[in-house]
Amino acid sequence: MKNITILTGAGISADSGLATFRDNDGLWNNHKVEDVATYDGFKSNKKLVYDFYNNLRSEAKNYKPNEAHVALSRLESEYKDGKVTIITQNVDDFHRLAGSKNVIHMHGELNKARCEYCLNVFDVDGDFDESTKCEKCGKDHVLRPHIVWFGEMPLYMALIDEVLNNTDLFVAIGTSGVVYPAAGFIARIKQIGKAKAVELNLKKSETNGLFDKYLEGKAKTTVPAFVDKVLEGKDLF
Ligand code: APR
Repeated sequence: MKNITILTGAGISADSGLATFRDNDGLWNNHKVEDVATYDGFKSNKKLVYDFYNNLRSEAKNYKPNEAHVALSRLESEYKDGKVTIITQNVDDFHRLAGSKNVIHMHGELNKARCEYCLNVFDVDGDFDESTKCEKCGKDHVLRPHIVWFGEMPLYMALIDEVLNNTDLFVAIGTSGVVYPAAGFIARIKQIGKAKAVELNLKKSETNGLFDKYLEGKAKTTVPAFVDKVLEGKDLF
């Protein structure tokens, strides 16, 4: 076994206390998805959308990475047989805070703003809105949350395809398998035919049948145990 690719979803951050999207206490409960997670929603009520993400950003500061994020960071630093890549659908920065370096944020990042005029992407710590100026071009009325909304193309898709092509072990953690293209990565892995695949989840995802193995439980328990097994070179299947 050589390269390991890990796809993470909201379930890995659930153990840090952040709500997932589709479980009962989901993030959308108080808002319509089309209002806060589409470009049309942003166009029609910018204040609502800025407020929504400003609140999330400030809320996320109350939480920290859990044992699962820490274990994945340990995997990246201690695994010597190949490359470990995390592709995350999460917009929190728990993987980075836990020490992971090779992380692809395919759905964007909560702690970043993007300028629609010059396309500059930059870190933001506190709130921002229409009146905030782009750090690079200095214009106002041009910033949006650096979040991939429904109907928008996820980021780094060419890089992700290259990563999937070179994967020997694919691991999906805490993702419901309903939002594409991420939900389609397991089918792509099967098409390529090179990698074995494992799902770690609290309950089986929509794509569970395509995985070679399933480990059920909370990420904070299953992920460290799984990482130990990989690092000890134990048989996983
Ligand atoms: N440990 C492991 N898995 C968990 C845990 C936990 N403690 N708690 C919940 N889960 C699992 C659920 O069983 C479910 O499969 O996490 C998954 C959460 O699913 P979603 O809320 O649909 O999150 P995700 O798959 O990341 O959503 C994908 O949808 O709206 C978008 O852009 C958003 O990135 C997000 C994308």
